[in-house]
Amino acid sequence: MTVQELKSAFQEAYGKPAEAVYFSPGRVNLIGEHVDYNGGSVFPCALSFGTYLLLAKNDKRVVNFKSLNQTEVVSLGFDNLTTRLGKLWVNYPLGVIAQFLKQGIEFKTGYDLLFWGNVPNGAGLSSSAALEVVTAYAFNDQLGTGFNRTVLAQIGQKSEHEFALVNCGIMDQFASANGAKDNAIHLNCDTLEFEHVPVKLDGVKIVISNTHSPHKLDSGAYNQRVAECKLAVEQLNKVRPIKYLAELSEAQFNEISSAITDPVALKRARHVVGEVQRTSDAIKALKAGNIEKFGKLMNASHVSLRDDYEVTGPELDCMAEEAWKVEGVIGSRMTGGGFGGCTVSLVKEDAIDTFIKEVGSAYEAKIGIKPEFYIAEIGDGARRVE
Ligand code: GLA
Repeated sequence: MTVQELKSAFQEAYGKPAEAVYFSPGRVNLIGEHVDYNGGSVFPCALSFGTYLLLAKNDKRVVNFKSLNQTEVVSLGFDNLTTRLGKLWVNYPLGVIAQFLKQGIEFKTGYDLLFWGNVPNGAGLSSSAALEVVTAYAFNDQLGTGFNRTVLAQIGQKSEHEFALVNCGIMDQFASANGAKDNAIHLNCDTLEFEHVPVKLDGVKIVISNTHSPHKLDSGAYNQRVAECKLAVEQLNKVRPIKYLAELSEAQFNEISSAITDPVALKRARHVVGEVQRTSDAIKALKAGNIEKFGKLMNASHVSLRDDYEVTGPELDCMAEEAWKVEGVIGSRMTGGGFGGCTVSLVKEDAIDTFIKEVGSAYEAKIGIKPEFYIAEIGDGARRVE
């Protein structure tokens, strides 16, 4: 939908014009998976698709939530803005508003909100982070709170913890808040220092393959991974004080890894320590223009997520393995939380048609689901559109 169409939809929904229009993007992570909550570095890019929020003030003490993607319409009085609502979509923006209120920020008027997003839902491309960050950005602007983009990302993350009950890291919200066109974000998730790194891929494109796998990001399995990493840290602390797994080099980890007595926690920790090294090597390779090396590290990342972290599953494995067979594919791996969702691949431009045809038909034959492919455009982070 165009901004003009969205404004007409707002007029129709609320019988008055929108006063402002905001946008925040989804993201794709190139490498550095399941390391954000372990204090490691990640390398995501914001996408050109995301979530729009149109709003206008109202003179009642209520916030009205509508979405063109959802059927439930919710209207909440000021006293009900800090409690989560079952499993409704409204929890994502509501959780953000709750964070403003919990910090003692006052709402002087009510608001009419209308959301619309074009990030495929449940695809691991952070449609929920886009929804959270667009809400945080909009209220920061409306209420004049002056939070910087890092704080807005943290507000989104807290909302996810408290209202969606997923103990996620900061990567998705940070990428949505801080994206920059044609750049990836090299973010240190411990210090939150970051740099934009130009993604110069001569004759190569980023292709996202959506498995359309019915499994959604399973918050139970995700939270379990977070807990397993915490257990590994606790057991390692018997021999060396650390706060995060990402503090250890592979050599340091190998020296003390026998302190982890739980075999599952040991595998999880091994993935994290290896992924931290791969991410650092991959960013250096990209800066040096060595795309081939970047691609090999992507493949190794997938294998580690498959064997040690166990967050891929047959659909993501099939999609990556079929991609590896195609000539002109530089690298391919699952992206995001896993358990379904998307892979990200670097594909030579002249091989893209073959890639889509061959990977698409092999995947459909083996899994029985028609996949979808997008050529990623790296876009800017959260902003006011009008
Ligand atoms: C999800 C979470 C992120 C991150 C990724 C895995 O997208 O929201 O914080 O942990 O999974 O890298």
